[in-house]
Amino acid sequence: MQPVVFSGIQPSGQITLGNYLGALKQFVSVQGDATGYYCVVDMHAITVAQEPKQLRERIFDLASLYLAVGLDPNQSTLFVQSDVKEHAELGWIMQCVAYMGELSRMTQFKEKTEGKDGVSAGLFTYPALMAADILLYQTNLVPVGDDQRQHLELTRDLALRFNTRFGETFTVPEVLLMKEGARIMSLDDPMKKMSKSNPNPASRIEMLDTPDEIRKKISRAVTDSGREVRYDPEQKAAVANLLVIYSAVSGQTIEEVIKQYEGRGYGDFKKGLAEAVVSHLEPIQQRFHEIRSSGHVIDVLHDGATRAREAAQKTIDKVKRNVGLGANRA
Ligand code: AMP
Ligand code: TRP
Repeated sequence: MQPVVFSGIQPSGQITLGNYLGALKQFVSVQGDATGYYCVVDMHAITVAQEPKQLRERIFDLASLYLAVGLDPNQSTLFVQSDVKEHAELGWIMQCVAYMGELSRMTQFKEKTEGKDGVSAGLFTYPALMAADILLYQTNLVPVGDDQRQHLELTRDLALRFNTRFGETFTVPEVLLMKEGARIMSLDDPMKKMSKSNPNPASRIEMLDTPDEIRKKISRAVTDSGREVRYDPEQKAAVANLLVIYSAVSGQTIEEVIKQYEGRGYGDFKKGLAEAVVSHLEPIQQRFHEIRSSGHVIDVLHDGATRAREAAQKTIDKVKRNVGLGANRA
């Protein structure tokens, strides 16, 4: 039997090259050997304020991007989280399995709430909903970027706790991380991850940036005071990050890229990097615009939700039976 693969991305901003290299690219690479579920996690997006019209547009943008990078709706199930009510249902049950203490230890929660007022309760219980997303499909593998590793650990703990308390119900999933690309850093600060919510747009490359925007952002990316293109994540974190990006978009190994720029300095290296990113993204962008304007994505998402619901219902029936919920006879 093929492994079940599940992953999700929030429609909460413009998708970045970090999302692509850490997550989306993996979705496509496992597609032939897996039963894939790829979700637009809109209920996670509303844990922070979203403008309704913009949220709806971003849902379709993200789903169109799923298709544009190469997910095939005949092979994978693409759907929107809120279209499958079982996510909310199991999300609640998982909130009752998770402890306040373990949720308080999530670094993403701490980072997102630091110095903020009006933090929603949903942002706190977010990992319980994420666990529900994954466990509903009896998932074996979850391709994500490194920042989601802690959430995945918690998902595994919750699955094990549930199984121990209520009997074998869930498959315990494993995380799937890229060797390179699991943590793409900001262009303006190699200590921060590239993020769609960073207030500085020059910190990230967005999947739909124009070639000129890409060239400009890369030419301004921080490096260091040296000249030599070398892979040294400790001493030369910014250059190491650019090398990882170069290698991922060009298909060359990091060593091959270094060799190519021997004795040539950062200027040439950045120019080459910009062209490599532009030529990798161009066909994706072209497909994106075709798909986005065709309206086809609505049918894909409806069909995906129907398929996802079928699988999710089986799990939720079992969960309710095992927990003792509802008026159905065991
Ligand atoms: P999010 O944007 O938080 O919905 O993240 C969607 C997916 O992209 C998750 O699997 C993240 O781990 C991944 N991701 C986000 N930012 C990065 C990054 N800078 N480098 C690698 N992966 C990332
Ligand atoms: N929390 C993830 C992120 O911010 C998004 C997400 C929600 C997810 N549900 C998921 C990822 C299930 C993988 C599996 O990136």
